Amino acid sequence: MPADLNTEHLWMPFTANRQFKNKPRMLVSASGMHYTSDDGRQILDGTAGLWCVNAGHGHPKITEAIQRQAGQMDFAPLFQMGHPGAFESASALAAIAPEGLNRVFFCNDGSEAVDTALKMAIAWQRMRGDSLRTRLIGRERAYHGVGFGGIAVGGIAGNRKHFGPTLAGVDHLRHPLDIGRNAFSRGLPDHGAEIADEFEQRLLALHDPSTVAALIVEPVQGSTGVILPPKGYLQKLRAICDKHGILLIFDEVITGFGRLGAPFAADYFGVVPDMITCAKGLTNAAVPMGAVIVRQDIYDDFMRAAPEDTIEFYHGYTYSGHPLASAAMVATMDVYRDEQIFERAAAMAPYFEEAAHSLRGLPWVKDIRNLGLICGIELESVPGKPTARAFDVFLKCFWDKGVMIRTTGDIIALSPPLIIDRAQVDQLFGAIGDVLKAQSATPQQMATTA
Ligand SMILES: Cc1ncc(COP(=O)(O)O)c(C=O)c1O
Repeated sequence: MPADLNTEHLWMPFTANRQFKNKPRMLVSASGMHYTSDDGRQILDGTAGLWCVNAGHGHPKITEAIQRQAGQMDFAPLFQMGHPGAFESASALAAIAPEGLNRVFFCNDGSEAVDTALKMAIAWQRMRGDSLRTRLIGRERAYHGVGFGGIAVGGIAGNRKHFGPTLAGVDHLRHPLDIGRNAFSRGLPDHGAEIADEFEQRLLALHDPSTVAALIVEPVQGSTGVILPPKGYLQKLRAICDKHGILLIFDEVITGFGRLGAPFAADYFGVVPDMITCAKGLTNAAVPMGAVIVRQDIYDDFMRAAPEDTIEFYHGYTYSGHPLASAAMVATMDVYRDEQIFERAAAMAPYFEEAAHSLRGLPWVKDIRNLGLICGIELESVPGKPTARAFDVFLKCFWDKGVMIRTTGDIIALSPPLIIDRAQVDQLFGAIGDVLKAQSATPQQMATTA
């Protein structure tokens, strides 16, 4: 780190600021599967940044598209004006979305995509005459970003408790993680599909379906430590929504763009929602962008309901469809297609699964969960010090092994770029295994945590 770099002024997001600033972990460049740290080390990226750099860092075609666009037109509004890039990028996204979902609303990130989708859902029910349907259902341990809508339907106490009552009329389904029955499952767990029935038997029985606008779920819950849907679970949720006229929103901010080896988790599971929220891999994270992909007839209803020549949906962002994001996005979709990035993820998934489960039996490992190129490794917590064990692994991987992982609670969550090769898979899991073994040999040297 440059000796004169002042770290005082930046308030870092979701970070223990004081701890970080005592010993900063600085990244200064990135290429392919690696970051370079400020002390010149190559750091293997085990998390695709934050689940977002699916095609690897610094892809030249994406960089070039952004540079070209920046030289041609920096910004143009999408309020009452247009530019070709925004329309091209919407078409590119519609082209890979599940059939029937082909209308696209742009925003800047996953949080905005979620809030946009929730507003669309309530507004759509209202315009069809169902104005009582304002209730939104989320799940415990869900992460849907940090907007007020997102934290309301989200299910993480730490993200909610500081901010008052958030939205009224929200309820939550139980999450389907059940280590007791499903520990060390490979791929989808066998047990727990019946938890979906609680949606109808408990929540809809309590609130009445006529009050519920939408259910939002992450097909795979990522941020709270990789919670996989049990076999048949998502299909049940779809059926209950259909039966009761409730919109199903898949939040695919992390599962979109090949993470499971298919364009979307909806494709992987064969369950088509009414709306998909996405971001991150949408532009390979090179420029911020989010989107809501909507069923065509929902869009058509909005068009029909508003009087001729009036605005149909009172919502939008200054940077919706930003020219640089649009350029990055079209180039990203080309790269995904031309370099068969999703297919590469699908081909690597079995090897990744083997490597992940090779950690079974190591000290503290109480569960390993995997799907596509996602892995969660749940560790026994240090009594009285939740998060300490996993965070120590994170620090040692970074400083001693040159590997970047991510932790949430005492769970290690891995989501490498989809271009990872076998040697890098070995390096990633090898590093974690080594650190766990060393930690068990000298537990008193465990670093303190956030
Ligand atoms: C499922 C899900 N939804 C929404 C978000 C929020 O995205 P962003 O941080 O881009 O606002 C995330 C971020 O990780 C996510 O995992």
